[in-house]
Amino acid sequence: MEEQEIFAIIGLDGFERLIAAFYRQIPTDDVLGPLYTSHDLSGAEQRLRDFLLFRFGGPSTYLETRGHPRLRMRHASFAITSAARDRWIQLMNRALDEAMLPVDVHLALKSFFASTATFLINRPE
Ligand code: HEM
Repeated sequence: MEEQEIFAIIGLDGFERLIAAFYRQIPTDDVLGPLYTSHDLSGAEQRLRDFLLFRFGGPSTYLETRGHPRLRMRHASFAITSAARDRWIQLMNRALDEAMLPVDVHLALKSFFASTATFLINRPE
């Protein structure tokens, strides 16, 4: 399966279920909750969803509204330690389980999130 086929397989609905399941856990998370500005969680949810749609073969709304992703630069102001990365991955893996996506899509997204989150670590412990 090509990464670009994922949107055709799970559609907007698949991404919406995944990202909603992820963000539902954020406000009460002791590690990540404080990093996200709680007043705009629905905006954050929309930005991550749009980014993933664009990255995996769906509409390019993210590029039109936010421009080139440059994720490391956009995360520079958040203290991402390896502990924060591990927690982000833990919540996302739980969201992946909850979203019940086809197994090949599940595995492809899981490995994409793991490597991207590692790449975003920007603070020593
Ligand atoms: C490693 C742990 C991570 C932490 C602690 C973290 C934290 C954050 C925070 C606090 C924001 C600001 C929320 C907002 O947009 O209002 C954000 C934005 C964002 N994050 Fe992360 N993030 C992490 C990993 C990731 C990963 C793995 C991805 C992609 C797979 C990602 C993609 C994004 C995107 C697309 C935005 C919105 C950027 C924009 O358009 O402004 N993040 N992140």
